[in-house]
Order: sequence, then structure tokens, then C-alpha cells
Amino acid sequence: MFPLPANVICLPRTNQIDALLTMIRDKDTTRGDFIFYSDRVIRLLVEEGLNHLPVVEKTILTPTGKEFKGVQFKGKICGVSIMRAGEAMEQGLRECCRSVRIGKILIQRDEETAQPKLPPDVKDRYVLLLDPMLATGGSAIKAIEVLLENDVPEDKILFLNLLAAPEGINAVTSKFSKLKIVTAFVDQALNEKKYIVPGLGDFGDRYFTSP
Ligand code: URA
Repeated sequence: MFPLPANVICLPRTNQIDALLTMIRDKDTTRGDFIFYSDRVIRLLVEEGLNHLPVVEKTILTPTGKEFKGVQFKGKICGVSIMRAGEAMEQGLRECCRSVRIGKILIQRDEETAQPKLPPDVKDRYVLLLDPMLATGGSAIKAIEVLLENDVPEDKILFLNLLAAPEGINAVTSKFSKLKIVTAFVDQALNEKKYIVPGLGDFGDRYFTSP
């Protein structure tokens, strides 16, 4: 689906990202390799997400005694994972942002109910919303609604996923134009079982369940 909506950022196609995604798409990849290569993609997504947070000027002194006019992040952040697959992305966020607060949202019964456990000051933070697969967009929309109900400004939400279906991108961006989606790849479509194709199968099963 090109051009992408303005608020969707797709990681640049490089040999590295192509090779990592090939590993995790392959049905014969072992669970150990699936975890290892997914974690590498997750790390790239988090690093790209952080590029979209605002900074303010900060001047520091280097050990040579010289001043350097640099920057620092403007606000606080937190992660919120959509359970259970989103929990696989928590470690990648922790590796980039030490001692980051992480909340969780459990979506149940065909996306009708949500049980959130969020940091108490979530409304004062940029939220990196974590879910590896953006398929129909149903649970993402519910999770975003929960964040908005908790007074998180929409433009402070960054939604990170490894693979996105055009249907999910359309569903989320047609409702929310101010948040940003950061994805590693936009796939072709959903199949009749609402799996992303070509996709990688069930992310949560492949990441968390031993064969
Ligand atoms: N969730 C998955 O794990 N895989 C898909 O293809 C769609 C949703």
C-alpha cells in the first residue's frame, strides 16, 4: 500500500532488514532463531521509534574542557504492551531505555473488553505501544482508546510492530491521524483467518511456545 499515510513510518529496506525478516518468516526457523532474529528487528523498531521523540538543546562539557551543544529527550517515555504477544517487545525497549516503566493491556472477547495496568503518570509520558502484528487493527484500536481514556495525548503515542497489513493500517490511521505507527514491513493482506500474508504465522506461538 504505497504511498503510506503520513503517520506511518516503515523501516528502510536494507539487506539487513530483508535478511532478518526472511529468517522470521521462514516456517522452518527454529524457536531459538525466531526469538533471536525477532529481537533484532524489535531493537531496530525501538531505535527508529526513539528517532521520532522531540529533543531540547543541552550544552555539556566534555572531558577536554570544551563545551558541546547537544540535545536531550524532551519528555519521559513508557512502554505499553498489548498482551500477550506485545510482551515479547518489552526486553528490546528495556535494552534501549534503561529502567523504562512498562504497562500492559489485556484485550479480550473480540476486542470488546480491555484490562489495563498502566503507569500512574502515563498521561505525562510518550507511550511506545507494543504489538508485533498489526492485522485487523481491532486490538490496537481498543488499546489506543484505553490510552486516550487515560488522558494520553494521541500525538504522544508511537505504535511499534514488526509486520503490518494494509487493512490494519487503514483501520488505525482512519481513526487516529495524530499518532505514529512504526513498522518493519507492510505486507500484502489478511487471509480468511485474519492472518497477515505472507506474514510469519502466529507470532505469540512462535515466540513463547516450545515446539
Ligand atoms: N497475529 C499473529 O500472530 N499473526 C498474524 O498473522 C496476525 C495476527
